[in-house]
Amino acid sequence: MSSIEKAMERSGAGVRAATVERLDAGRERPEPPRHDLPLARLRAQGYLTPEDSDGPLAEQYRAIKRPLLMNAFGRGALPVDGGNLIMVTSAAPGEGKTFTALNLAMSMAMELDHTVLVVDADLVKPSLTELLGLRGRPGLTDALAGDRAPLSEIIVRTNVPKLRVIPAGRTYPNSTELLASQAMRALTQELAERYPDRVVLFDTPPLLAASQASILTYLVGQVVVVVEAGRTVQHVVKEALGLIDSSKAVGLVLNKSHERTRGDYYYGYGEA
Ligand SMILES: Nc1ncnc2c1ncn2[C@@H]1O[C@H](COP(=O)(O)OP(=O)(O)OP(=O)(O)O)[C@@H](O)[C@H]1O
Ligand SMILES: [Mg+2]
Repeated sequence: MSSIEKAMERSGAGVRAATVERLDAGRERPEPPRHDLPLARLRAQGYLTPEDSDGPLAEQYRAIKRPLLMNAFGRGALPVDGGNLIMVTSAAPGEGKTFTALNLAMSMAMELDHTVLVVDADLVKPSLTELLGLRGRPGLTDALAGDRAPLSEIIVRTNVPKLRVIPAGRTYPNSTELLASQAMRALTQELAERYPDRVVLFDTPPLLAASQASILTYLVGQVVVVVEAGRTVQHVVKEALGLIDSSKAVGLVLNKSHERTRGDYYYGYGEA
């Protein structure tokens, strides 16, 4: 017996270690988190839900998601690096980012062979988390700060079989800085590499309100810019587009438009 082993025996450490081992062996792996989305309430608030798969809203999101999915899975005109990571943003607050991100995620989850993961990356105003009834649950901030929770502990399964959610998570000091952290870069890379067959949608803050949103454009493959019809003036939209990494595939969604006959989606690379 080595002198270290003898010292451990004297102190009882070896006995404690053996006991811990036995306890661990009998413990089951924790179930992945699960949560039932409040689908009836979401539907009453005008969001797309599986019950409306044949309605006009579903039809609009079908047109919006088509080019995004082509890029996500390498079927677009040009290859898009990390195309399965899609960020939804806007120039100003309240233009419909959360509305668009959730409806797109729902639309994709309803009609896709792939799983869709929607991430609440608006850490200043986590309204997606609130809307889905996930406040107080571990989420994005918990993966980026503190003990750095693994993805398996923050990805929530839902009652929509192909839809998963990462809530915003608990509040940490300086949590707004977390989006610009090295840990966020590592997490997006992990998502892109571990789940290449999955679409990951990020609901984010407005581009002109926080520098974190423009930093996020460097981490994703595609950027959807929501523009509120009749409100956001052209030069503000242009200013916001100027903050997006110019190598990214960028699409514009015209939201709250009464003109429903054309697909309200404009698409291009870099400057629009
Ligand atoms: N096309 C739409 N039709 C009906 N209601 C909409 C539409 N788009 C957005 N809304 C509603 O407008 C409000 C603001 O939308 P939303 O929260 O999606 O904006 P946001 O850009 O995410 O705002 P914030 O900048 O505060 O995060 C919400 O109550 C939402 O339900
Ligand atoms: Mg929002």
